[in-house]
Amino acid sequence: MEPGSVPISSEEKMMRTQVGIVGAGPAGLMLAHLLHLQGIESVIIEARSRQYIEERVRAGVLEQGTVDILNRTGIGERMRKEGLLHHGIEIGFQEKRHRIDMTDLTGKAVVVYGQHEVVKDLVNARLGSGGKIVFNVEQVSIHRLNDEHPVIHFSENGTLEQLHCDYIAGCDGFHGICRQSIPEGALTVYDRIYPFAWLGILADAPPSQEELVYANHERGFALYSMRSPKVTRLYLQCDPAEDIANWSDDRIWSELLTRLIGVDGWQPNQGPILQKSVTPMRSFVVEPMQYGRLFLAGDSAHIVPPTGAKGMNLAIADVRVLAHGLAAYYKSGNSETLAAYSETCLRRVWKVQRFSWWMTSILHRFPDANSFDQRRQTAELDYVTSSEAGARSLAENYVGLPLNLANELAG
Ligand code: FAD
Ligand code: DHB
Repeated sequence: MEPGSVPISSEEKMMRTQVGIVGAGPAGLMLAHLLHLQGIESVIIEARSRQYIEERVRAGVLEQGTVDILNRTGIGERMRKEGLLHHGIEIGFQEKRHRIDMTDLTGKAVVVYGQHEVVKDLVNARLGSGGKIVFNVEQVSIHRLNDEHPVIHFSENGTLEQLHCDYIAGCDGFHGICRQSIPEGALTVYDRIYPFAWLGILADAPPSQEELVYANHERGFALYSMRSPKVTRLYLQCDPAEDIANWSDDRIWSELLTRLIGVDGWQPNQGPILQKSVTPMRSFVVEPMQYGRLFLAGDSAHIVPPTGAKGMNLAIADVRVLAHGLAAYYKSGNSETLAAYSETCLRRVWKVQRFSWWMTSILHRFPDANSFDQRRQTAELDYVTSSEAGARSLAENYVGLPLNLANELAG
């Protein structure tokens, strides 16, 4: 039997663990990994298959702190080989691109490495160490959140099961059941929906330059990114109600080139489009990120608009704080650090919300913007690309704000 899962009674399909984790996204998988390193048992339940979560294309930029924790905890090997180290980004407006040298300004850098690659590395580490992930679960519900031993109910292959735990980590993303299981009135919700979305593509075309380009164009925002030396990732601002069927490959390339080509004639290489999708944009936070013995982490507690690539990094930061609190509790019985989880996370979450909102606000075309707003936006772009102080502030946030956890991972 795998460590981390002790059946209470095999007939009743009851299991017991220390931390029950709902969701095998970056938050749930990283939490299980950090807990394992501290000798704390956990079981992850996941609604989708292993193949599905390992192929789901989402975020692509890892902050320095995310890179460091992957390396420090022994799962950075493939990232070190295949990840693309970036020392700067470019901001395009009025047909010119301006480089922001993050390493000069902060001493730090980011790594371009797909979220699904991080997920693969974490799943491998988890299964390789004998840890448990129950895939394809259904009928998930959580109970007794204010008791000493909360319970997760779910079904696996049609059989109902109960997972009894000390704590539950709600890592089940924005549409998961954990946040929704908290009684109305116990949470305050902060929400903003943007009047645009991102149409994202993955193209079988080698990147035509090394660094990312964030472009503000009169026809809307465009982003040039990549996944590997052979695959380019690109995004276009579009209407949130946009039907992807209306976007032929030719139309997508034509729009991307219009928005990205600068006066120097640089342009992305074109190639067959491997995948396309439309992602709506939203800023969302719930407070607190805890209810009784349930802790929310990652997208289940907050969503940022993707400009600045913070979603996955924020999910990893949350579970570092949570693992730290749980480790302190299991080591000494002292739950003070754990009790401060929500407050500790939210201070950083709001700063990252601010940055993601701000990056979104300077780079997109807002349908209701007047000529004053337009001039102010251009001035802001001019400021951050010409003032060292302005550029440093952008760079400091882009490479990731510090997460100072005293004695993190101390045995
Ligand atoms: P998730 O990755 O959503 O993981 C939650 C997991 O819980 C999933 O595997 C889900 O299947 C599982 N689950 C859900 N309900 C249940 C249940 N009831 N029981 C069991 N399991 C359940 N960020 C960027 O920085 N850049 C991007 O380009 C970008 N693109 C994105 C595109 C899309 C379509 C989406 C949805 C998000 C994107 N993000 C992007 C955000 C980033 O991917 C997320 O912030 C990140 O995935 C958060 O990780 P998480 O572990 O909190 O949640
Ligand atoms: C990517 C996504 C982002 O949201 C971003 O700001 C930069 C890059 C990407 O998917 O590569």
